[in-house]
Amino acid sequence: MSNTPSEIIYLDRVDSTNSYLLRNPELLRVPWTTIVAREQTGGRGRKERTWHSAPEKDLTFSLVYHPPGKVRQIRLVTLVVGLAVQRALGRLSGITASLKWPNDIRIKGKKVCGILTELHLGEGGAAVIIGVGLNVNSQAHPAPAVSGATSLLLESGEEHDLASLLQRIRNEMIDLLSRFSSGQRKDMLRRWREASDSIGKKIRTVLSGRVLEGIFRDLTEDGEVILLDARGKTHVCTGEIEYLS
Ligand code: BTN
Repeated sequence: MSNTPSEIIYLDRVDSTNSYLLRNPELLRVPWTTIVAREQTGGRGRKERTWHSAPEKDLTFSLVYHPPGKVRQIRLVTLVVGLAVQRALGRLSGITASLKWPNDIRIKGKKVCGILTELHLGEGGAAVIIGVGLNVNSQAHPAPAVSGATSLLLESGEEHDLASLLQRIRNEMIDLLSRFSSGQRKDMLRRWREASDSIGKKIRTVLSGRVLEGIFRDLTEDGEVILLDARGKTHVCTGEIEYLS
């Protein structure tokens, strides 16, 4: 790991903060380097979806994480980051958000934040680019395909300071990811289970091309979904999930 202090770089306008880091791999050498965009013109979500955010009203940033050794469990990293955002929101705004597997942070069932993690394997080793999009002071959102969207303003009736949110979320991310790096994987999974509303829900997903319904029973050690079907059989799933209850 490099000893160079990490930087927070502010950009007025960029297509996507994740893409910016992928195009500038020298920025990936220093862990916790952060790119913040006042405006994103081509924000990307999971599954090649578009991520919409209002310039200077919503928070869009990407942070560089160096996974330890050969640990390349991007799925677990996404879960840890979800926890960090949820904790930061609770501490700063008193808002109780819940986690929907794998990368949604929701308030009263509506998505307020999404996480996009991408792995870069370069000469200097592995780096994970973690993109966070949080709807903060925007009034309206084009609904994503899977669920309605909301913002902190819409839920709390109050505007929130973007700089304080960024600092708080970034600090929580660094804290929890450092603990994860030092081997606190089980603890992170336990905390995720407590913070999530996914466990026990009736869900639909697709596994090997087949639609599957059942109960979200638990997570595997690698952060995959354990689904229990109506016949009492368990399946390990990694596809998108839809809540049915
Ligand atoms: C999702 O829910 O599908 C993930 C959304 C992630 C959006 C953030 S905004 C900052 C970073 N740059 C991007 O282009 N995407 C992520």
